[in-house]
Amino acid sequence: MITLKNVTKKYNNYDLISYNDLIINKGDFISIVGPSGSGKSTLIDLIAKLNTCSSGEIKIFDKSINTYDDKRSIQLFRKEIGIMSSTSSLFSILNIRDNILLPLIIHNIDKCNSNFEHIIHKLNLKNLLDKSSGDLSSGERQRVLLARAMVLKPKILIADEPTANLDLDNTKQLVNFLRYLNDDFKTTIIVATHDDIVSKSSKRIYELEK
Ligand SMILES: Nc1ncnc2c1ncn2[C@@H]1O[C@H](COP(=O)(O)OP(=O)(O)OP(=O)(O)O)[C@@H](O)[C@H]1O
Ligand SMILES: [Mg+2]
Repeated sequence: MITLKNVTKKYNNYDLISYNDLIINKGDFISIVGPSGSGKSTLIDLIAKLNTCSSGEIKIFDKSINTYDDKRSIQLFRKEIGIMSSTSSLFSILNIRDNILLPLIIHNIDKCNSNFEHIIHKLNLKNLLDKSSGDLSSGERQRVLLARAMVLKPKILIADEPTANLDLDNTKQLVNFLRYLNDDFKTTIIVATHDDIVSKSSKRIYELEK
C-alpha cells in the first residue's frame, strides 16, 4: 500500500536524513519512533505529500506520489488519506462542527455519506460542536483534528504526535480510537510518536536514528 525506497530528505544542503526502506501493508498500524530531530515529522510530511523527497521514491496505492500531480488525482489522494500533521490547524471563523465538516464541502460529499455522526460519538465531541476553535483545550483540539482527518472515511490515517498534550485518560481514549479504526475499519495507520502508550498499541515500529 505504501513503500519507501532509498528515500532521503536534505534541508539546507547539509542536514541529510536517510530513511530505511519500508513496506506498509493494508491494515498495518505502524509507529515511527526515534529521538527528537531524527526525522519523524519530516517522514509524516513526505508521505502526506506536504513536503518532497530529495531522492528516492515513495509509492502509495502502487503509484509514485509524484504522479498525484493534477487536480483530480490530488483530490483523490487527499480523500483517501486522512492527515493530522504538526501544522494542522482549525479555522477560527468556523465553529467546531464546520471545521470537522470542511473536507466534505471541499470534496462535495453529503454528510450522510460521511463518518461524521459516528466519529462525533466515538470521540465524544457532541458538546463541543457549537464552540469556536479558540475555546478548546489542547486535548479537545487534538480530538477535533483527528475527527476532521477521519470524516471522509480515508483508507490511510497519517498522524504526527496525535497524543501530544494529552493527559493519561485522553491518551488512552485516543489510542483506543486508533485501535478501533484499525481493527474495525481496517484503516491503515501511520503515527509519529514519542508516546510509549501509542507505540505499544501499534502493530509495528519503524525506528529512526539521529
Ligand atoms: N523546514 C525545515 N528547514 C530546515 N530544517 C528542518 C526543517 N524541518 C525539519 N528540519 C530539520 O530536520 C531534522 C528532522 O526534523 P523533524 O521535525 O522531522 O524531527 P522529529 O523526529 O519530528 O523531531 P521531534 O521529535 O522533535 O518532533 C531536524 O534536524 C530539523 O532541524
Ligand atoms: Mg516531530
